[in-house]
Amino acid sequence: MTKKSRQSKSFQRAADAPALPATPFSFICYFVNQFCWWYIAIVILEVIHATCGIMLPYAIGEIIRNVTKSTVDSKHIFDVVRQPLMLFTALSVGEVVFGRSAGLLLTILHPIHRQQITRSLYAYLQQHSHRYLSSSFAGALAQRISETAFGVTQTMQMLISEFMSVIIVYIVATILLYRTYPPLAALVGVWAVLFISISFWLATRCRIYSRKAAAARSQTAGIIVDAVTNLTSSRLFARLGFERRYLNEQFRRELKEVKKSNWYSERIRWFQFISAAILKISTLYYSLSLWSQGKIASADFVVATSLSLLIISEARNLSRRFLDLFEHIGNIANGVYTIVQPHEIIDQDSAIAYSITQGQIEFRQVNFSYSLERKVFDNLSITIQPGQRVGLVGFSGSGKSTFVNLILRQFDPQSGEIFIDGVNIQDMTQDALHSQISLIPQDPSLFHRTLIENIRYGRLDATNEEVMEAARQAYAHDFIAQIKDGYDSLVGERGVKLSGGQRQRIAIARVILKNAPILILDEATSSLDSITEKAIQDTLDLAMNGKTVIVVAHRLSTIAHLDRILVFDQGHIVEDGTHAKLLARRGAYYRLWKMQAGGFLPVEANNQNMSELQTK
Ligand SMILES: Nc1ncnc2c1ncn2[C@@H]1O[C@H](COP(=O)(O)OP(=O)(O)O)[C@@H](O)[C@H]1O
Ligand SMILES: [Mg+2]
Repeated sequence: MTKKSRQSKSFQRAADAPALPATPFSFICYFVNQFCWWYIAIVILEVIHATCGIMLPYAIGEIIRNVTKSTVDSKHIFDVVRQPLMLFTALSVGEVVFGRSAGLLLTILHPIHRQQITRSLYAYLQQHSHRYLSSSFAGALAQRISETAFGVTQTMQMLISEFMSVIIVYIVATILLYRTYPPLAALVGVWAVLFISISFWLATRCRIYSRKAAAARSQTAGIIVDAVTNLTSSRLFARLGFERRYLNEQFRRELKEVKKSNWYSERIRWFQFISAAILKISTLYYSLSLWSQGKIASADFVVATSLSLLIISEARNLSRRFLDLFEHIGNIANGVYTIVQPHEIIDQDSAIAYSITQGQIEFRQVNFSYSLERKVFDNLSITIQPGQRVGLVGFSGSGKSTFVNLILRQFDPQSGEIFIDGVNIQDMTQDALHSQISLIPQDPSLFHRTLIENIRYGRLDATNEEVMEAARQAYAHDFIAQIKDGYDSLVGERGVKLSGGQRQRIAIARVILKNAPILILDEATSSLDSITEKAIQDTLDLAMNGKTVIVVAHRLSTIAHLDRILVFDQGHIVEDGTHAKLLARRGAYYRLWKMQAGGFLPVEANNQNMSELQTK
């Protein structure tokens, strides 16, 4: 994406998200600006520190000058060199004191700064859409956040303690040499300007490579996290070897990018080393010839050679640091370009925290597709009355979950509107919408926190008793009581330490606690055994009381008693009515009902759809 298009008007951010700039440079400036007084202090200390360091050869020169000029015997030599010696001592002490003070400030600042950047990126990421999150690796995103935050602090540290001090060394060295012999200053000055400009030019060219290398690295991290998450699946499919090879493939891709980037950096190093050597040799020859012609004193000769050696060692440091700097800048760019993308679904400025009183849901001429190729809903219009309990049935892939996702604003329709109580859901804040709709998904995932925390997620201020009561209603209390730590047990990442049915019951308990006016169950009881399901059904019926309810069900028997049944077929609602009415119609629903030997809906056979079923 070009710089221009990412800063165009269409770049929308959620109001809750920090206004992070979308380019690496402005991103760094944004965060440095937040701590600008700290950085100003550090820069001042570093300037003094670097100046002290580069003045040392000057002090040595003065000492030598006084020694060679003096006629007193060596016993009183200290009297002769007292002043330059004091200067030398002061400079040495200054180098230590100012250098370490700058270091101390950086040590204090960096962890705070890094947390601040992490906090902002995380807050920004939180507002990304379901679509964004489901098309990224969670592990890679997490890694990018931390690499970006680390990158900013490291970049600043390098710019201040490495690059700035090099520039100061050049400037002061040139001034000192100018005082000695102007042409010598011209030699070093021209060299320094050329050196920095060419290094900079090479650096900008290298950025493309280092960015690609960073992207490849975080891709690897993402793949590893994904593979570790699915390790059990790999084992059970006997695909451990396959996974290693899969990772090797990625390593090969990564290595290709990293090699390119490293080779480029190596070429830069060659340039820097060669030009440093040229400077070293030419200053030595040049000042030696000046000295032999009597144009400069011995002291100046010492100053000139030691200054040039100092510059060269700084230059070598610079070349080593460049590599790191590119890597950090690459990481920042990678993180910024990935995370600081426009938010797809945001609250409008005029959005209100509407309180749902009735719970009427209306789809008005909704058109929706996930991708351009295939439409899921074509002009769908339907109204669900307040307090109505509606069952959705249809083959898998017929659009039931999509219907639910649209109500929850996981996606926005391409055209048409969805209303709750006559209010367009796009005119409500998402927080208001989500806090008033409960969803029990097919495969609820839990936090790797204790069971009580997971249930209390439904209502944060619920007391322990209320949590336990909800758990009891969801038939979760008994199994929780049998686990070693009871409600304080950790459930494993995403809740893996529980069975699907147990996780489901936790999810139900949390929704009972939430007690929102609209309740949606998306195949929520499908992973329960039929005995638990029957038991829970009563609880759910109780929980449905006085609410608008949408139940997507696999087992038709679980929805037969609801007020209304909608039959979905390829994104269309082909039948609408009560169980009895639909049976009497002897249409699609009737056939489905007949087909369900044990009360299950057959999984979609190849391209089989309702119309085919109807004609059978
Ligand atoms: N996140 C998604 N991205 C792209 N296509 C999707 C996504 N989710 C569902 N689909 C597609 O949309 C259609 C409807 O899916 P869905 O609403 O999940 O059906 P159901 O819940 O009835 O089984 C299917 O063809 C499915 O492949
Ligand atoms: Mg579904």
